[in-house]
Amino acid sequence: MHLLTLKDWTSEQIKRVIEKSIIIKNNPNKYSRSLQNKTLAMIFQKTSTRTRVSFEVAMTQLGGHAIYLDWRTTNFALADIKDETKYLSRNVDCILSRLLKNDDLKKMAESSLVPIINGCCQKYHPCQVVSDLMTIKEKKKSLKGLKLVYVGIHNNVCNSLIIGCTKTGMEITTVTPIRNEPSFDKSLIKEAEQTGLYKTTLDLKRAVKDSDIIYTDAWVDMEFFLDPKFRKEKEKRVRLMKPFQINSELLRGSDALIMHDMPIHRGYEISDDIIESPNSIIYVQSENRLHSAKGILLTMFEKM
Ligand code: CP
Repeated sequence: MHLLTLKDWTSEQIKRVIEKSIIIKNNPNKYSRSLQNKTLAMIFQKTSTRTRVSFEVAMTQLGGHAIYLDWRTTNFALADIKDETKYLSRNVDCILSRLLKNDDLKKMAESSLVPIINGCCQKYHPCQVVSDLMTIKEKKKSLKGLKLVYVGIHNNVCNSLIIGCTKTGMEITTVTPIRNEPSFDKSLIKEAEQTGLYKTTLDLKRAVKDSDIIYTDAWVDMEFFLDPKFRKEKEKRVRLMKPFQINSELLRGSDALIMHDMPIHRGYEISDDIIESPNSIIYVQSENRLHSAKGILLTMFEKM
């Protein structure tokens, strides 16, 4: 069993991993030896704070071990991804991969003898959304019928939120004036539309008005943030997205919870005061990356 997109997981499997994550969070000591003698390889082509730290700490706290591999310092950078994966999966028990291209992730999954967890590619970020849904469930007790509005670029996180929300009975509205073309998944949108739980609009005020949760994300993907070649596109995005900032004026009269998957670009997609406001659950959401990483790992190892 792999965790590549969440598309291939049933509603029941998603609900179960959310439940597991909450149970583990409330009683971590019970699971302190669950992955004894197990090793997770974590290979990264892109930067990371939360994904790397949460999975490494999760393995330690579950009694196992994690190895961090920077893609550029391994022979993945020089050789065929399938050969390197065939080797790696003979020495470790599970692989977490943050790769640039979803196609490379697929090649890895096809060649691996052990489960592959997608740590965020250009199309999907399933681990983030398991943590997000866990956080919402903790706060609201039930997911079904809740209304989430995603405001930002239509990107990998947006795709995974659409999958996660529609599979757990939540309504999701996206307000995404710009689409990240490499992230776009036409079949995902078609499937989501058929559920009757997904819609998209540019009417930000109306979308926010009746929502239970407002979610935003960075306007520029991590791999392009410091890239001088992306400067013009970055400037264009800031100009077009500025009216879609989550700020106190937009939220006047709203009681919605505020979420952001981090890293945050303060003053761009969200204003300072909203990050620190009582309705912001951003830091709990980020803490839950650890607890949900444990839920995901125990699911991959079929330990619960
Ligand atoms: N949200 C998230 O995946 O954070 P990192 O990029 O820091 O891992």
